[in-house]
Parts: sequence; structure tokens; C-alpha cells
Amino acid sequence: MLNLTGKNALVTGIANNRSIAWGIAQQLHKAGANLGITYLPDERGKMEKKVAELVEPLNPSLFLPCNVQNEDQIKSTFETIRDQWGKLDILIHCLAFASKDDLSGDFSQTSRSGFNTALEISTYSLVQLSGAAKPLMTEGGSIVTLTYLGGVRAIPNYNVMGVAKAGLEMSVRYLAAELGAQNIRVNAISAGPIRTLASSAVGGILDMIHHVEEVAPLRRTVTQLEVGNAAAFLCSDLSSGITGQILYVDAGYEIMGM
Ligand SMILES: NC(=O)c1ccc[n+]([C@@H]2O[C@H](COP(=O)([O-])OP(=O)(O)OC[C@H]3O[C@@H](n4cnc5c(N)ncnc54)[C@H](O)[C@@H]3O)[C@@H](O)[C@H]2O)c1
Repeated sequence: MLNLTGKNALVTGIANNRSIAWGIAQQLHKAGANLGITYLPDERGKMEKKVAELVEPLNPSLFLPCNVQNEDQIKSTFETIRDQWGKLDILIHCLAFASKDDLSGDFSQTSRSGFNTALEISTYSLVQLSGAAKPLMTEGGSIVTLTYLGGVRAIPNYNVMGVAKAGLEMSVRYLAAELGAQNIRVNAISAGPIRTLASSAVGGILDMIHHVEEVAPLRRTVTQLEVGNAAAFLCSDLSSGITGQILYVDAGYEIMGM
């Protein structure tokens, strides 16, 4: 029943084979979606090469550089989608950034620039990409972003990223309220802790994972592919009545009080 054949899906946020976006891209491909992949370009082209090699088996029909701090790259990404695909059905927003200095120690010492950068890349980018996707989602659509429990509870060291995720979750609700009239659904997956490039910057991430493995109802944390399965569901007609929601894919950890 989960069939994404004929759907055009743009997936952001693949950096390597540990990326949650990689788990999502694989499951969308498995469900039959036509993929477009964006990567964060660097001066020496290392990321382009690495991500291109990784995603090759999924035969993406678009492969584009897109730094969300670069207006021109965002514009060009969506112009290319318009010209080559004609319409967009699915947008996966799976990216975040905060300086390592701001992911440990005292939250009160977060710098102005660190705060602004974290919220610009991790939060505003959802608003920006959704705004660019809106005119291309002519047959309705599904937008999915990734959040974490640190956006609703204080988690040691998550600090400024918790504030960014709180803003992201509220952006999901405002976007869902606006875009629903166009049958565009907007949801977030709140994933349990997974070892990735981004999470390795959070102080004590391994302790967080071990804690979840001890305490979560399923006595483990989750995998990228499990998050990918939930994303495929949220992008499919099986979830046609669901929008503006935060879906916990965290082995149940969120329900626990101790
Ligand atoms: N790993 C976890 O434990 C966990 C848990 C819950 C939510 N998340 C969220 O999942 C998402 C993906 O993170 P991940 O853990 O897979 O790590 P990751 O490092 O694999 O992915 C982060 C991605 O963000 C991209 N990025 C950073 N700055 C960018 C910019 N300016 N423009 C475009 N792309 C940029 C990076 O290139 C990378 O691909 C993030 O939103 C993260 O907060 C992660």
C-alpha cells in the first residue's frame, strides 16, 4: 500500500552513510519515488564527490548543491525542479547546524552569532525551503523535517539546538496551517539519538544513546532506516489525514518520566 511511484521527492541533508537523510532517501526510493538530492558544497568538491558516490544506486534524477545560507543556490535548486520535473510532491528537510562550542557547557554563554547561525540554518531553512516548494506542489504535497526531544525538554548540552528545534516544531504548525489549503501536509519526526556527523558535535552524545538503551520501552535507540520508514509513511497517502504533527520515532523514550 505504501507506494510513492510517480512522486518527485527532494531530499536534503545527506552527508554520509550515517545521515538520517540517507536512511530516508533509501526508503523513499524503495517505495518508488523519483529522487532529487542536494548536498552542502565545499570549496574542494569533497562533499559533492562523496555524496554522489553514495546516492548513485538510488539513481537520483537531480543532484544539486544547496547551502541553505545561499539564496542563489536555493533559487537555482527550485528553478531546476520546475524546469526538469514540472512539479514537486515531497520535501525532506533533514539538516541542522550549531557550532560545537555552543553544544556543551553553559547555555547562558551562547554567543549572538552562534545563536543566529544555529537558528538560521536549522530553523529558518525549513520556512525558506517550504516557501520555495509551495508553488511547485501543484498537486498537493508532503513536507517532513527532523526534530529532537531537546526542543521540548531541557537535555544536557543540546542548548541552542533545543531552541532551534522548538522554533522548528512551531514552524511545522504554522506551515501546516497555511499550506493545508493547498493540500500540502507538514510534519516532523522526532528521532531518538543516532550516531551521525551532526550528533557527534553534541557533548556526551554516547551517554545519551546509552541512557536511551537502558530506559526506552524498546530498550534500544532507533536506526536511520526506521526513521526512513516513518518518513515514507508521512510522505504517502497512508497519512493523508495527518498534518502539523510531531511523530516520535524514538523507541518510546519520550513517554518515560524516569
Ligand atoms: N542524529 C540524531 O541523534 C538526531 C536526532 C533527532 C534529530 N536529528 C536531526 O536530523 C537531522 C539530520 O541530522 P543527522 O543526525 O542525520 O546528521 P548529518 O550530519 O548526517 O546531517 C546534517 C546535514 O546538515 C547539512 N547542513 C549543515 N549545514 C547546512 C547548510 N548550511 N546548508 C545545507 N545543508 C547543511 C549537512 O551537510 C548534513 O548533511 C538534523 O536536523 C538533526 O538535528 C538528529
